[in-house]
Amino acid sequence: MAKVDLVVVTGAAGFIGSHLCDALLAKGYRVRGADDMSAGEHSNLESARAHDGFEFHQADVSDLDVCRKLCAGATAVLHEAAQSSVPASVEAPERAHKDTCTSTLHMLTAAREAGARRFLLAASAACYSEQAPQPLVEKTLLWPLSPYAAAKIASEQYVKAFAGMGLDGVCLRYFNVYGPRHSAKSSYANVIPAFTRRILDGGEITVYGDGEQTRDFVHVSDVVRANLLALEREKPLGGISINIATGHSTSINALAHSIAKACGRELELKHQDVRAGDFKHSLADVSLAKSELGFEAQVGLDAGIASVVEWMKQA
Ligand SMILES: NC(=O)c1ccc[n+]([C@@H]2O[C@H](COP(=O)([O-])OP(=O)(O)OC[C@H]3O[C@@H](n4cnc5c(N)ncnc54)[C@H](O)[C@@H]3O)[C@@H](O)[C@H]2O)c1
Repeated sequence: MAKVDLVVVTGAAGFIGSHLCDALLAKGYRVRGADDMSAGEHSNLESARAHDGFEFHQADVSDLDVCRKLCAGATAVLHEAAQSSVPASVEAPERAHKDTCTSTLHMLTAAREAGARRFLLAASAACYSEQAPQPLVEKTLLWPLSPYAAAKIASEQYVKAFAGMGLDGVCLRYFNVYGPRHSAKSSYANVIPAFTRRILDGGEITVYGDGEQTRDFVHVSDVVRANLLALEREKPLGGISINIATGHSTSINALAHSIAKACGRELELKHQDVRAGDFKHSLADVSLAKSELGFEAQVGLDAGIASVVEWMKQA
């Protein structure tokens, strides 16, 4: 795509969306960001706002009229907005459906009407069944354990349907994304920011279960690169789903030790009962990302954790 093209980023004030805005602007795209600020932070947009090519709209992208205004003149949409917490979706399923699935359908509708060329969905590894063999391949069984996962699966189906209706698209199934700007504030905070904050504050960290559950942690700069590769690929992507991950797994115990080491602190750890709905293992097969996008993760866990610790010390 030509660098002067206008790209719409929803969830722009969120963790991943704000990094996408920065990267697109740095590459010369014009960016129209939208966020309802339900979980976004204005501070995440400080660097984007310094660019002439950036505009921001505080808006709810589950509203079709809002989506139509946002998509006017756009050549591509990166749809990151969602109610991004699994436990919150269990507490409020209708809200999760509105912010995650209705927003996808309405952004697709508006993007197609506007003649956009490509739609990138922030999909999720939460769509996989716990029974699916590891490493998880894209064509394996999907089975939602939460309204969040159900809304993401439904969103993927809409992206595929619209690809058959003239709007090319792709579903990028992010695994456990981490990096600077990932908030530790929410009571649903993800494991890396939550552990880092606790350890820096000199507190004890809580591990659910024996801590031997494993995850595929992928740094936000790798996720951004995957999005740019998908955005700029010449050939249509046809609505396919692609794992965005490293292909390596790390146990929660090992992760806690690495974070404590990076913080220069002793690790104080306590165990609690396993949480309902928590997977034991989650590891991606990343061969499709390589063959379709030429994508391979580049940031190792130690360097990635160091970037989080540095950011939290300054925040
Ligand atoms: N972080 C991860 O590990 C991860 C993993 C898999 C998938 N994802 C997906 O990636 C996307 C970005 O995740 P994130 O970690 O940056 O989450 P985030 O919560 O930081 O960002 C999501 C943003 O969407 C905004 N939003 C929510 N509903 C909205 C609405 N109706 N209209 C406009 N804006 C709205 C929120 O205010 C927030 O700023 C989400 O779709 C999430 O489900 C994230």
